[in-house]
Amino acid sequence: MMPARDFDIERIRADFPILSLQVDGKPLIYLDNAASSQMPQPVIDRLVHYQTSEHANINRAVHHLSQTATSAYEAARGTLQRFINAREEREVIFTSGTTEGINLVMQGWGRKFIGAGDEIILTVLEHHSNIVPWQMLCAEKGALLRIVPIDDSGELRIDAFEELFSERTRLVALGHVSNALGSINPVKQMISFAHARGALVLIDGAQAAPHLTVDVQALDCDFYAFSGHKMCGPTGIGVLYGRAALLEAMQPFKGGGDMIRTVSFEATTYNEIPHKFEAGTPPIAAAIGLAAAVDYLSAIGMENIATHEHALLAHACKQLRELPGVRIIGTARHKAAVLSFALEGVHPHDVGTLLNLEGIAVRTGHHCAQPLMQRLGVAATSRASFAFYNTLSEVDALVDGVRGVQEVFA
Ligand SMILES: Cc1ncc(COP(=O)(O)O)c(C=O)c1O
Repeated sequence: MMPARDFDIERIRADFPILSLQVDGKPLIYLDNAASSQMPQPVIDRLVHYQTSEHANINRAVHHLSQTATSAYEAARGTLQRFINAREEREVIFTSGTTEGINLVMQGWGRKFIGAGDEIILTVLEHHSNIVPWQMLCAEKGALLRIVPIDDSGELRIDAFEELFSERTRLVALGHVSNALGSINPVKQMISFAHARGALVLIDGAQAAPHLTVDVQALDCDFYAFSGHKMCGPTGIGVLYGRAALLEAMQPFKGGGDMIRTVSFEATTYNEIPHKFEAGTPPIAAAIGLAAAVDYLSAIGMENIATHEHALLAHACKQLRELPGVRIIGTARHKAAVLSFALEGVHPHDVGTLLNLEGIAVRTGHHCAQPLMQRLGVAATSRASFAFYNTLSEVDALVDGVRGVQEVFA
């Protein structure tokens, strides 16, 4: 696939001050975007504007600044609603990130509706943040986890997924895109299968929202969680989408200010959604920054982003495949911009350390997916993950760097 014609990579790169950094005299080549992406100037400017002219606590005061901050915060919710095509603004809850979104569903829905003997389906591809909360719930309630396996390419075994269902299946919690392998899972098809069997579906969209068009109505998912810092926004902010009727039926996750309607020592009544789930002072600036990030991505176009990143991935895979001793881990037919690989006879940490000497930032380790590493029979991988601001020549530099690592260990 060729990059879209109106996709001006040099203009885009000029928006990201950090991309002109040098690391030990070498230009930074930032290929750790699946962990955290970088922030463009318009998002930085929006944060500065908020802090210098709009900041006050929201929801509580009649004064000018509080009203300005409240309007900006609620406008950010609207921007996020449109970005994922949620039906209503109140279906968008600001969280601290994907991890908190999943924990919110575990605490708010799981602790109320899951009982002994109920079953929750996960996949072997999951990030720890979509495993551990469900394990904690199962330990508390006596519920059971069922795990969808993968084939050797890193694709989910849909036949096995369908066989895991029983009359006790209550929830499927699965990633849209694998952070370790890049596999794009057929979530729409899986959601429709789960619904036909009466189970709800939570999608961990941490690695999808930065790279694909996400339409929660088209997917028909029940919950969808993602993080701002992986999509050019600030850290400490994310979104949990939930169907309004489900959110209304859930119990709050945290108690405190703003999430209540009335409080007495005898009883408390809760606020309406989304406020029921946003106790205390939220990360106001970060939410507004995330909306600016989403506006930035939308102006480039998610389709253009996906097309460019696909070209980077294809270019990288083609060249790495030609190098003897390099094994690409994760060869699913549909992949997002994640490239895990292993070099024969070289520990991934050495790969990361030597690439760093060339200014190239990749991630090495288990990628918070230890069960997946066990399934693959490796302790760790090296992972390059691309963003729309990466270039084909940066991919070439990665390949040269890998060649250099092989020479050191030859
Ligand atoms: C697939 C996936 N899920 C969840 C998370 C957790 O995201 P956060 O740390 O922003 O909560 C990550 C982060 O790497 C991820 O890649």
